[in-house]
Amino acid sequence: METVLSGIRPTGNLHLGNYFGAVKNFLKMQETHRCFFFIADYHSLTTHPNPSDLHGNVKQVLAEYLAAGLDPEKATLYVQSDLPEIAELYLFLNMNAYVGELERVTTFKEKVRKQPDNVNAGLLTYPTLMAADIIIHRADKVPVGKDQEQHLEMARTFARRFNRMYKQEYFPIPNAFNFGEELVKIPGLDGSGKMGKSEGEGNAVFLVDDAKTIRKKVMRAVTDSGPTEPNQPKPEAIQNLFTLMQVVSEPEIISHFDEQYNTCAIRYGDLKKQLAEDINTFVTPLRERILDIKANDAYLSKVARLGAEKARESARQTIREVREIIGFRPF
Ligand code: TRP
Repeated sequence: METVLSGIRPTGNLHLGNYFGAVKNFLKMQETHRCFFFIADYHSLTTHPNPSDLHGNVKQVLAEYLAAGLDPEKATLYVQSDLPEIAELYLFLNMNAYVGELERVTTFKEKVRKQPDNVNAGLLTYPTLMAADIIIHRADKVPVGKDQEQHLEMARTFARRFNRMYKQEYFPIPNAFNFGEELVKIPGLDGSGKMGKSEGEGNAVFLVDDAKTIRKKVMRAVTDSGPTEPNQPKPEAIQNLFTLMQVVSEPEIISHFDEQYNTCAIRYGDLKKQLAEDINTFVTPLRERILDIKANDAYLSKVARLGAEKARESARQTIREVREIIGFRPF
């Protein structure tokens, strides 16, 4: 069975775009593959988060993915810093990673621009750490978005280099996981592009948003002055609202507003009110589950322990073999 692995940044909350994108795919993959999903809290140190935030962020992310349906029995769900083996493999990989190639990574150059006062070595070696994450479980498939493709390419380079250096095909070369066409792109509320937390305040609806917040965001969504002729194609901002309806509203409701649009009788205020209500109906059980799980420290700690146990078993074996291959021998 193929091994799939993905890291999750412990920043921010899940929004509907994440939910219908990455999360839905994790849920599918956990049924069919040997899956490792982990919260990348080592990585988060490259931007120096406040120690008082770190644990809370990890907890929030863990609770949200559990609430969304990740199953700790089916997938191995763990916190990166529970696996010191990753740090050890990172050290080994860094010995064969070249400063020149790391300096050329786009995300590194971006960070240099964004945080010029904190260009730390962890930032430079972010791709080596990510490679260690992936190959510690000898993963075959990594579901990555566009922004992570270069990092995955580096992981492939480091895995190949290790194999070549020690003259054996020890690490499988990880490939990108392709989701296929069925992936729904959830648009944001600002009239263009997809939902994202960096797209500005109010563009994304988060799973933890309450009814009032959802309503406020949806009512402020970008629209226009309305159709002037019947049966015209919808401009992007309007189509976006219909696309959102597609994932949260009943078909009759969608065809009702569709007809209203096509006969130029539509009132965007009514559509938004309905959309806000349907988003809230959809999100409410998730929001409640997140809050329940967050309040249940015993459960969270059980999940984290189980995950760490399963993940360490796999990681320990790799480290044992890697040490042997590199030439470290016990006296
Ligand atoms: N760098 C990834 C991101 O920013 C998170 C991540 C860390 C990751 N380690 C990984 C993703 C290993 C896939 C595999 O989203």
